[in-house]
Amino acid sequence: MSDKANGGMEKSLDSAAYLNADAFARDKAAIFHRQWFCAGREEDMPAPGDHKILDIAGESVIVVRGKEGAIHAHYNVCRHRGARMCDAVSDARWGVKLDAGVVGRTMIRCPYHGWSYALDGRLLAAPQLQDSPGFDKAAFGLHPVAVQTWGGFVFLNLSPDTAPDFTADLAEPSRRLANYPLADLVTARTINYEVNANWKLILENYNECYHCPGVHPELTAIVPAFKVRGGIDLDWEAGIPHREGAYTYTWDGTTRRAPFPGLSEDEKVRHKGELIYPNLMFSVSCDHAAAFVLWPLAAGRTLIECRFLFHPDEVAKGDFDPSDAVDFWDLVNRQDWAVCERVQSGIAARVHTHGFYAPIEDLSLDIRRYIERCGEP
Ligand code: FES
Ligand code: FE
Repeated sequence: MSDKANGGMEKSLDSAAYLNADAFARDKAAIFHRQWFCAGREEDMPAPGDHKILDIAGESVIVVRGKEGAIHAHYNVCRHRGARMCDAVSDARWGVKLDAGVVGRTMIRCPYHGWSYALDGRLLAAPQLQDSPGFDKAAFGLHPVAVQTWGGFVFLNLSPDTAPDFTADLAEPSRRLANYPLADLVTARTINYEVNANWKLILENYNECYHCPGVHPELTAIVPAFKVRGGIDLDWEAGIPHREGAYTYTWDGTTRRAPFPGLSEDEKVRHKGELIYPNLMFSVSCDHAAAFVLWPLAAGRTLIECRFLFHPDEVAKGDFDPSDAVDFWDLVNRQDWAVCERVQSGIAARVHTHGFYAPIEDLSLDIRRYIERCGEP
């Protein structure tokens, strides 16, 4: 096809970028293991010693709240001979329980020869080695993973020495969402979806509204603006208006919950959305937020952890019920995952080498720009 016949459309990424294992390995090396990666919420680890073991595209990481309140993260590997220090799966497989991992809320212990580390990663003790001449404990701290927080979210970077400037990456979303009390919000419900689609397809889908009229009839009934020109003219800066009388993402566009404190009059009736590359899709209404943390599992498989966040004052009320928002979103989400899976299987056709982004899908094209920006592994 000549370029003239494209009607101004741009080529999408090659199909191989979504399908093959080499491309996924490249995404890991250039993106998930090098860029800031959203890894959940601070509220998951409220007290010192609270921790999570995360698999970030194949790398096991210990994330732990330290004694002094800061969050630390380390590769889950002992500096001695490389044992994985937290591994409940191996223990369960052999029906044993080794004395290991975060113990006593104060240290991380390797089960093999008993090296122990402070929660901040310093080597505390290495049995029998203490008196070895020239043994410098300071040289054997855990391999660090960098940690930052933003709006109550925890972000990790597996290559701390080359990590990009976190503040610069988040400057625009911070400005656009300045009035929302993001750090105070609490997760009232989480739904995990395992979707048979490449992580990039899911982001591309999030970034365009061309599909909304056909895929999301319930959503477009609440937000008719999504039906107009694929949403290309929408002003995400100011927020997206709902239909007359509606102001949030629920079945009828209303709710008993109060709006977040501090919102402008516009923000009380409009919706905002952010895509924080590479793995946080974030949508906010006046009374709740939906946060989608993507966990890429393989070229064609992505776990989507969808959290519904509310203000703690609302959650504390005896009659708090998030289902008006959660059930509505769950339907919209499943509609999205169903089309993403159709694309993942469709693009495997031998005749399909790449697709096209229509001019009204300019934001989807952004994934191509983002990948270019990240550079080669
Ligand atoms: Fe951890 Fe030996 S491998 S103490
Ligand atoms: Fe959608």
